[in-house]
Amino acid sequence: MTASYPALRLRRTRTSAWSRALHREIAVSPADLIWPLFVTDGDGSHGGVEEPIGSLPGVSRWCVKGIAQRAREAVALGIPCLALFPNTQPGRRDPLGKEALNPDNLMCRAVRAIRDAVGGEIGVLTDVALDPYTSHGQDGLIDEAGYVLNDATAEVLVGQSLNQAAAGADIIAPSDMMDGRVGLIRAALEAAGHHNLQIMSYAAKYASAFYGPFRDAVGSSGLLKGDKKTYQMDPANAEEALREVALDLAEGADSVMVKPGLPYLDIAIRVKQRFEVPVFAYQVSGEYAMIEAAVAAGAADRDAMVLETLTAFKRAGCSGVLTYHAPLAARLMNG
Ligand code: PBG
Repeated sequence: MTASYPALRLRRTRTSAWSRALHREIAVSPADLIWPLFVTDGDGSHGGVEEPIGSLPGVSRWCVKGIAQRAREAVALGIPCLALFPNTQPGRRDPLGKEALNPDNLMCRAVRAIRDAVGGEIGVLTDVALDPYTSHGQDGLIDEAGYVLNDATAEVLVGQSLNQAAAGADIIAPSDMMDGRVGLIRAALEAAGHHNLQIMSYAAKYASAFYGPFRDAVGSSGLLKGDKKTYQMDPANAEEALREVALDLAEGADSVMVKPGLPYLDIAIRVKQRFEVPVFAYQVSGEYAMIEAAVAAGAADRDAMVLETLTAFKRAGCSGVLTYHAPLAARLMNG
């Protein structure tokens, strides 16, 4: 039962800053952020190799030493987790993505460098999928027709996960969308004694037009022919997202991700309400690029936009957000 105007005036509680603060329903903090970082080769002997990414203004690939620096920065800012993506040299890519199984690949070296720099003060989430390692840019192994093979790919993903686990990853994050891979990875991790290694599955990942700059960042955009629609989801489907989430949870995922972010907030809140599990959203590269383009055009206030979008994810029930704006957002939140 509520009163009606004029007994009820919703503007009353908005009159002053202190009252708005008092009535605020949710809060965002640096603890809600996961910072995705791109790793590149280079010895960093001159203070860190930094390669700016044209389609992601303000984001760079970092050499392994540079990644360790970013980890120190993240700890200082209160960001609890980093997500790593390697830019594998063309010479180390092949049709099978074998570099994913190399214990000394860029990803594993970056994980160890973070451990050396900050110990267990920060979580490291490692991406499981083969697109940074294949010469054709698909997330898995392909047949003669270019179709991405499910079970053969899943087998490699298990090896990739064990490789990352051995390097010291805290969260294994399969972004490949193969059927059954969460269960296979979970079983292999248990068998290898990695009982406390988390799996955050990219459960509802859509075949989206918002991934372009990411593919530049990992160096697969020039290699990829065609699209990923035989494994990533149709943007028109929501019920199917709930089925994907249910399966990944049944197979042993500790948390699930919805990706991209803002265009799929309806999916995030439906997953949260249906399953009552930790849900994360990935505010992807194209979303970052849109904000930066709006700022460059003089059409928007970056800081306000970044904080507003992060607030939207929390309001939709997300536990946290993967965002390239993480360091900026953390600085703003820390005042
Ligand atoms: C692929 C992967 C992609 C992203 C994360 N992992 C791109 C794709 O599916 O082609 C996109 C992230 C972003 O756009 O920021 N395994």
